[in-house]
Amino acid sequence: MVVNFRDLSAFENLKNFEIRACSGRYGNEIAPSQNLVSGCNGKEFDGRYPVAVRPGQALSGIRLVASSEGSSVGWRAGTLKRKFDMAQIFHRSANLIARFSVLALVVLANLALAGVLVVARSPYITNQRVIRAQPLQFSHKHHAGDDGIDCRYCHTSVETSAYAGIPPTKTCMNCHSVLFNDVGYLEPVRESFRTDQSIEWVKVHRLADYVYFNHSIHINKGIGCSTCHGSVNEMPLMFQASPLNMQWCLDCHRNPERNVRPRDQVFNMDWKAPANQEEVGKQLVAEYKIRTVSELTSCSTCHR
Ligand code: HEC
Ligand code: HEC
Ligand code: HEC
Ligand code: HEC
Ligand code: HEC
Repeated sequence: MVVNFRDLSAFENLKNFEIRACSGRYGNEIAPSQNLVSGCNGKEFDGRYPVAVRPGQALSGIRLVASSEGSSVGWRAGTLKRKFDMAQIFHRSANLIARFSVLALVVLANLALAGVLVVARSPYITNQRVIRAQPLQFSHKHHAGDDGIDCRYCHTSVETSAYAGIPPTKTCMNCHSVLFNDVGYLEPVRESFRTDQSIEWVKVHRLADYVYFNHSIHINKGIGCSTCHGSVNEMPLMFQASPLNMQWCLDCHRNPERNVRPRDQVFNMDWKAPANQEEVGKQLVAEYKIRTVSELTSCSTCHR
């Protein structure tokens, strides 16, 4: 039986990888010597993974174990989402109908996998463009766009720390203790100030815990807020503009020259890449001493 496997080219500088088939509830590996596909470069892998299973043995999952160039981490295992719960493999002597049904199963499994992959990349799963109900309607369009308040007035730590930070109520009261200080829709702000209870903003962006991200390094190397967060100055309510999945991070880490801009433009929401961006970008990559692609795509950069 041959299982079509997902494209390994997402792992560009893969140094070693192995794919192992697992069986049973606890995912015991099936006869590794027969079921091991290994190699040095994900791109050389044609995606077809032959699995030798004993008659009657069920395939419960497939595990990818990988390490990358220059990476200090050991082997990483991620059990892929696909499960072959009912995939019974029949003996060779099975009749034509049984063979046909095995084929149908494989086809179905592949269709299901394709479905899973399409859904996994769709805005529905990545939470893109979803607006969350907030304790009060705060508009970036009004504050950052129309009134031109700098991002750093509220997100004070974005240049110096991993986190951009959400402003405390006191920051709002700098203006709203006099401005619109009696209107109803600002009552949650005044109440928070009186009672010293923070406003409970609902998080819009959330990376998985096993991913390390740092704002200050991106800001200091000339990556603008709008490249990742979109036109915040035009958002009446906040939403996540980019997919924030691994592929998206890697697309930029492989080609930083396409996105880097002069440092003094990082907070400019209206910045557009000039026609000769590739050229200017390359100069900025050199000037800002942006690390090599192999360092930026090493697993341990983001998974530490
Ligand atoms: C007047 C204060 C203020 C200013 C100025 C401001 N923000 Fe915000 N920002 C907030 C508040 C409050 C929230 C939390 C509520 C929300 O998500 O809308 C927030 C949320 C965000 C979030 C989403 C956080 C999450 O939950 O994931 C992003 C991204 C963001 N701001 C980016 C920016 C950018 C970029 C700028 C500059 C163009 C900016 N902000 C200017 C106050 C401000
Ligand atoms: C630098 C001054 C300033 C700060 C700081 C500020 N605001 Fe405002 N806010 C304004 C102004 C000016 C308006 C009127 C905006 C307009 O209509 O263009 C406004 C309007 C609003 C409104 C009315 C709805 C809207 O968006 O027009 C809300 C709600 C609001 N602010 C909430 C907040 C909250 C919450 C904070 C703190 C995170 C905050 N503001 C911080 C100046 C400020
Ligand atoms: C390289 C992409 C990238 C850039 C550039 C970027 N952000 Fe973010 N931002 C993210 C990601 C990813 C998250 C989610 C982080 C998490 O969940 O740990 C985030 C989260 C946030 C949050 C939520 C609170 C927090 O600290 O996690 C705010 C506010 C924010 N960004 C504001 C900004 C502002 C302002 C700028 C520009 C000065 C900016 N970001 C530039 C990718 C970026
Ligand atoms: C638009 C381009 C871009 C995007 C998108 C982007 N990065 Fe980066 N990233 C960079 C650049 C440029 C650097 C700076 C490299 C350097 O320091 O030389 C960097 C550096 C880093 C570093 C190194 C920080 C350190 O302290 O060593 C981490 C970690 C990182 N990025 C994580 C992420 C993650 C996770 C995502 C996706 C959620 C992401 N990046 C998305 C451009 C990007
Ligand atoms: C630039 C940052 C970055 C680098 C480099 C990176 N990853 Fe990831 N990785 C992510 C992010 C972000 C996610 C979370 C994706 C999500 O939540 O959809 C992720 C998720 C994963 C997952 C979870 C399974 C999945 O597909 O959702 C595995 C396994 C993984 N990475 C392995 C690796 C390996 C192996 C390498 C090195 C070849 C690597 N990563 C390099 C950012 C990175």
